[in-house]
Order: sequence, then structure tokens, then C-alpha cells
Amino acid sequence: MILTEEELIQWGHRIGAEVETPVFLGLRGPLGAGKSVLARAVARGAGIAGPLPSPTFNLLFRYEGEGGVEVVHLDLYRLRQPEELWELGWEELGVGQEIVLVEWPERAAGHLPEDRWDIELSVPRGEPSVRVVEVHRVGAPPHLPGFPVSLERS
Ligand SMILES: Nc1ncnc2c1ncn2[C@@H]1O[C@H](COP(=O)(O)OP(=O)(O)O)[C@@H](O)[C@H]1O
Ligand SMILES: [Mg+2]
Repeated sequence: MILTEEELIQWGHRIGAEVETPVFLGLRGPLGAGKSVLARAVARGAGIAGPLPSPTFNLLFRYEGEGGVEVVHLDLYRLRQPEELWELGWEELGVGQEIVLVEWPERAAGHLPEDRWDIELSVPRGEPSVRVVEVHRVGAPPHLPGFPVSLERS
């Protein structure tokens, strides 16, 4: 599907407000693709009101949302070795009422959960204000609100 920034944010709000937890969303795509825009929108939808800084240097931020939901936003762009995942508490993620949003999930290849959504964003040539959004279901994650159509990736 092709989404404007406003549409992407609306979809993110809906995911944040409605998705069943725990859920893991891998956000793929090059720099500037809109991964952080979508992650922030999900956090807003989950009821997080304060500032949402980019986890570029901290790699991980955790927020308390509404009704006990927690949003964990990671950006693994600067991950150098998988051992750094353990320092982040990676193995304890994705339990309880967590929405886990991971930018650059490919940096954690081999350590990704079996059940997840991979959302791939790209900028179509010559159209800088929209994004091509491809959604791939891996394993058996909870239903993704606002997106009934999905492709299987093995
Ligand atoms: N349709 C769109 N969806 C998401 N972002 C868009 C869109 N059109 C333009 N943008 C802009 O693209 C940039 C995406 O930045 P960001 O989300 O930080 O990228 P990433 O985290 O993938 O590196 C923002 O400046 C945003 O305003
Ligand atoms: Mg980003």
C-alpha cells in the first residue's frame, strides 16, 4: 500500500490503540523511510503523551502507556555485535503487555522472535511525500489492526 505521512501516522495510532500484546514489530527500510515516524505514532496511539526522543544513541527507550501497556522502541542501527542485545535486555522483551518496535531489526538477525510483523517502508522514486508500505507476517503474531491483508515471509 502507498501512504502519505498523515495516513501512516493514523495507521500507527490505530496499531498502538488496538493491537493485542505482546507484539513485536520490525521496522525496515533505509534512513528517512519513516520508521521513527511510525514508531512514534504507535506510541502515541498507546497513550504515551510525553517526548519521544529517537533511540539512535541509547538504542532503547521504554514508555508506560495506558492500561498497563508498555512501548519499547529500539533502534539497532548502531548495534555492533549481538552481545549488545543482551545488555539491552533483549531476551526479556516481548512478554507481558509490551509493544516492541525495532528499527533496523536486520541487525538482530538470528535473534528475532518467531512471531512478529515485519513492516518495510520505502520511498518511491520521484515521490518523496509518500511511502510504499509492505507488511509481512512471520509466524503467528496477534492481528495487526488496520491491515487485514498480509503476505507470508518464511
Ligand atoms: N509518507 C510519509 N511517511 C513517513 N514519513 C514521511 C512521509 N513523507 C515524508 N516523510 C518524512 O520522512 C522522514 C522520515 O524520517 P524518520 O521516520 O526519522 O525515518 P527513519 O526512522 O526511517 O530513518 C520524516 O522527516 C517525515 O516527515
Ligand atoms: Mg529512525
